[in-house]
Amino acid sequence: MLELFKSLKLDKNSSTPLYIQLSDKIAEMIDNGILLADLKLPSIRRMSSLLNVNSVTIVSCYKQLEIDGYVHSRPGSGTYVAAVLPDRSGNFSDSNVILDELYQSDDLNLINNGHIKINEDTINFASATPQSNLFPVENFKLVLNEVLDRDLGNAFDYQDSQGFYPLRSSVCSLLEKRKIACSEGNVQIISGAQQGIDIIAKALLRQGDYVITESPTYTGAIAVFKSRGAEIADVPLSNDGLNLNILEYNLKKYKPKLIYTIPSFQNPTGISYSNEKRQEILALAERYNAYIIEDDYVSGLDFENMSFTPIKSLDKSDRVIFLKSFSKIFMPGLRLGFMIVPPSLKGYVIEAKHATDISTSGLIQRAFDLYIRKGMWDEHFEIMFDIYRERYNKTVKALDMYLPRNVQFHKPGGGLNIWLDIPSNCLVGSLLKAASAENIVFAPGRIFYSSTPTKLNNVRLSFAAVHTDEIERGIKKLCELISYFDRGESLTGNIPIL
Ligand SMILES: Cc1ncc(COP(=O)(O)O)c(C=O)c1O
Repeated sequence: MLELFKSLKLDKNSSTPLYIQLSDKIAEMIDNGILLADLKLPSIRRMSSLLNVNSVTIVSCYKQLEIDGYVHSRPGSGTYVAAVLPDRSGNFSDSNVILDELYQSDDLNLINNGHIKINEDTINFASATPQSNLFPVENFKLVLNEVLDRDLGNAFDYQDSQGFYPLRSSVCSLLEKRKIACSEGNVQIISGAQQGIDIIAKALLRQGDYVITESPTYTGAIAVFKSRGAEIADVPLSNDGLNLNILEYNLKKYKPKLIYTIPSFQNPTGISYSNEKRQEILALAERYNAYIIEDDYVSGLDFENMSFTPIKSLDKSDRVIFLKSFSKIFMPGLRLGFMIVPPSLKGYVIEAKHATDISTSGLIQRAFDLYIRKGMWDEHFEIMFDIYRERYNKTVKALDMYLPRNVQFHKPGGGLNIWLDIPSNCLVGSLLKAASAENIVFAPGRIFYSSTPTKLNNVRLSFAAVHTDEIERGIKKLCELISYFDRGESLTGNIPIL
């Protein structure tokens, strides 16, 4: 088998990157049945010496094959040919929904191998993104047409890397309401908050630098920091935010450049930091010379009027990079968000943004600016707020009604996620499979940790994508499954036998 890989010819003069050439060849061997399911591919070091290319080429190649569904990696073991291959027919499939969180390969395998199917009837507690039937398509069509008539070809020109100036100005007026002072000069428009995290990492971090994150945290941030070669020092969350003793210990020990936080309705736990903790974290960042990323992905969904103070509004010494996503309220596929960047970092951030994609789409920026100026954003926000609040209330009520007493959960009062601590004899993996047989999906807690979690018994339930009428049925069924597993009873009737 090693001879087979050794005989692969790569063209170092071609404009196609080596890792793509290699992944195409391996995919072809898999398609043709030369490499069979579950075959272990050579290790990165072995493959790079067989082909005389550097190890980054092999890492990128295996990653690409994994993204394309040809292989899966088993942490600590290696990369294996997938048991079920991707559909190469080119047909669009409506049976798979793109999930907003990055699932680890094991979870993706469950989904790809049909153990977890997501289709239109699935009760999807896994995705914290609005359903597409709630997107304000008609109003957006109006502003798009108006922009095209108004700006003609200019709408399609390269844009300022920092963002379309009038949109930066509209963003400042949105922030005024939240008492965050900003000027157009400090706003950076980005293609979604995910890109914002990546750009900050690109601008500030070098291989081996430390970043502090909450534990657990948003999977997309973990993926960015790891991809930049940064080391993650994670800090556990208490019910009112980061554990300050461990935070200070890590700040002293690792001297991180960044602290990545989601202080309001945190993803995945739903926890919000108390106002005192926000102040203390800022003071620690100042003392230990670190910057804070304040990831504000849903702070506006404050159903119980808790009115937390944004850390950015307390920031007198320009320590906080405020990061805003619109995806949870608006249309995530537009890829739009913004950051407020401290003046000392502005140059690095613009450079990193330019190197990434030159600028966010000018047409979309202009259309969104008009959408805000016409008051459509405020209107749409109100609509989404009411829908999400109703779903939140239904979810919490159903959990109160059906959850077994030994399952803990904290009512976040806002946001889109609820974090359950299920009994340890109810394995999350088994629950995931049993629930999917009932056409219910959720996110297993372990995917939100940067390293092996100490606790494996968590479940994240998101209600954003579940129709209000389906919530009670979904929660009731899930709670029945938790009780069955907890009691160690054999599963019968319409509850699947595993
Ligand atoms: C906490 C958090 N930050 C950022 C993002 C990325 O958002 P965007 O779609 O704006 O890139 C997400 C998406 O799920 C998220 O949960």
